[in-house]
Amino acid sequence: MFTIRIKNKRIKIFNWIIFLTIIFLILYLFGSLIFMLPMFKKTYDYKLTKENYSIKSKITFKDEWFRCNVKEQYEIKAEDKLIKNALKKDLINDGFVKKKNVYVRVTKTSGTCKMKKVNYEKTHSNNYVVFKLNGEEKVDINYGSSYTDSYVTLKIGKEESKNIKINSNYNENKVGSYVISYTAFISNDYKQRLYRKVNVIDNEKPDIKLNGDLNLEIDYGSKYNEPGYTATDNYDGNITNKVKVKNTINNKKPGVYKITYKVKDSSNNVNTKERMVTVKEKTDSVNKKVTNIEVKDGITYVNGILIVNKTYDLPKDYDPKVNKQALKKLKELQADGKVLGLDLSLISGYRSYKTQEDLYNKYVEKDGEDIASTYSAKPGHSEHQTGLAFDVGSVDRSFENTNEAKWLEENAHLYGFIIRYPKGKTNITGYIYEPWHIRYLGVDTATKVKQSGLTLEEYLGIN
Ligand code: DAL
Ligand code: ZN
Repeated sequence: MFTIRIKNKRIKIFNWIIFLTIIFLILYLFGSLIFMLPMFKKTYDYKLTKENYSIKSKITFKDEWFRCNVKEQYEIKAEDKLIKNALKKDLINDGFVKKKNVYVRVTKTSGTCKMKKVNYEKTHSNNYVVFKLNGEEKVDINYGSSYTDSYVTLKIGKEESKNIKINSNYNENKVGSYVISYTAFISNDYKQRLYRKVNVIDNEKPDIKLNGDLNLEIDYGSKYNEPGYTATDNYDGNITNKVKVKNTINNKKPGVYKITYKVKDSSNNVNTKERMVTVKEKTDSVNKKVTNIEVKDGITYVNGILIVNKTYDLPKDYDPKVNKQALKKLKELQADGKVLGLDLSLISGYRSYKTQEDLYNKYVEKDGEDIASTYSAKPGHSEHQTGLAFDVGSVDRSFENTNEAKWLEENAHLYGFIIRYPKGKTNITGYIYEPWHIRYLGVDTATKVKQSGLTLEEYLGIN
């Protein structure tokens, strides 16, 4: 198109000018395009800080641009180095915040002012939000006392806020460590959380109660019978079975011995109690009991104690009904047992001669006389006819292993009763072990019999 002709110098020069101008324009456009390219493609991260705002966004040069018109807009200075570094220094001058948008004012190298709208994320700086625990971070509460939470303080700017959610597994009825969490909802997408540890602790000692005297005496060579004890704890309840008893009594060595009762609750609180036991000097009179046997109206009294056994019987017409004092003490025993969760219901009390006769005959028919006689008394030979004996709890052999039987064994004397047919004494009483059969003797005598470790026959020196 542009031919250089030597003949026509004017045309030649004109063509050269046009040619060079076109080349210049092409280069200019091409150069501008190359220069503009990064501006249309690049994405920059930057952060803008202004008072309590933290603005984080991406700016993409491809997005819409505004013409500068900042009159009614709140201006901020783009002083943040990060912005300047991220958005080429020569392009960004300043910016402003309007409603929820942040604008940065950008000036192109050519000097044309352009505006860019960017998204931002509003957060709150530390000095803007006050969120703190009231009271301690770790609180110990004694089991049984109530806990009042001292809550938290939340201020957003100058405003108090109650936009707080509390979460907790706190259980005042259970010893343990609990966490209370407080979540403050500061804005739709911004929350903070604080924690408090609350420990429910039990530092109360368990209590030990010793039955009987704290100072006891036993005869030389005689068995020490523990009068019993109970241990209760404010948290664990009845922990009698956790009591450890240390007893170093040597009944063949006169002296004073200390028995210690120690119990620890589930929180390791310990309590101890002591009892002093004196083993008396050996004397010839020990075990030599004076036995005074009297028979009145066919009823035998040994040292004033009414006796019925395989040797001594009662008249057929002896019909005293239940003994009122014995019944009263039985009721006390049952009531105390009930408090401990023990069922000591009356199975059989007073039985007349005739009732015993029927019962015995029934057993003989079932098991034969020899076997029946090991667990049932012949008519006239039953303690039930005195109105002073009771069968409680259960008359089944399995009763032996119940808490009821154990408690009865240890405590019946406190109500004036003895276990009349003890374990391992069949050769003396003639009857198998009857842990349920209790005989009223009065508290003094029952305690003495119990402490002797003997059957009533042995204690009184009779057959
Ligand atoms: N079970 C007792 C020995 C009685 O029959 O009296
Ligand atoms: Zn009985």
